[in-house]
Amino acid sequence: MTQDELKQAVGQAAADYVAANTPAGCIIGVGTGSTANCFIDTLAPIKHHFRGAVASSEATRKRLEGHGIPVLDLNDVSEMPIYVDGADEIDAGLNMIKGGGGALTREKIVAAVATTFVCICDASKQVATMGKFPLPVEVIPMAKAHVARALAKLGGQPVERAGFVTDNGNVILDVHGLSITDPKGLEAQINQITGVVTNGLFACRPANLLLLGTPDGVHSVTAA
Ligand code: 5RP
Repeated sequence: MTQDELKQAVGQAAADYVAANTPAGCIIGVGTGSTANCFIDTLAPIKHHFRGAVASSEATRKRLEGHGIPVLDLNDVSEMPIYVDGADEIDAGLNMIKGGGGALTREKIVAAVATTFVCICDASKQVATMGKFPLPVEVIPMAKAHVARALAKLGGQPVERAGFVTDNGNVILDVHGLSITDPKGLEAQINQITGVVTNGLFACRPANLLLLGTPDGVHSVTAA
């Protein structure tokens, strides 16, 4: 199976999961990226099961609306049974690095409101220790030099993502060379640096369930 076929398989598995495990008329949270796009495309046939969706990026909002799925403002939503999104890396505790697509802040906000976070990805994203994928950090533009110096003190090599501005008008520093042995501690430590909006570690709020695409089918994985 190609990687695209694996993404389509996990997208379909996630739509089946939504149909079977959420109450009719609920609001669902939808992530960003190529795997999330496969999920969005498989939502169209079940769109009458739920009332609408909250999007984690402008790109996702446009794709949902393209399928005729109503998109709600998160401020108008108090309960969301599920958030479905991809990841750049995921470990055995279902801690993740996210933000390869630059949507990490809105993804983290939508995930914070959801009861269950379902991560969808193929086996290439599974790692023993996170950090090979550069850790994205969203930064207020005037603080980028200060934040870069602080990230270097933590042992990383921050590189500004060229020509990229987030949906929130900020920049991304991708931090190379980290070996993340304490994901929760590092997530909190980086978020304490003045000028950081948030970082792409999802460890304080990890996934509850991983739908993992493999050549012999989609496996449901919970935290070890
Ligand atoms: C976007 C993300 C994505 O979920 C992550 O980058 C994975 O993307 P893809 O499914 O395209 O590999 O965090 O900000």
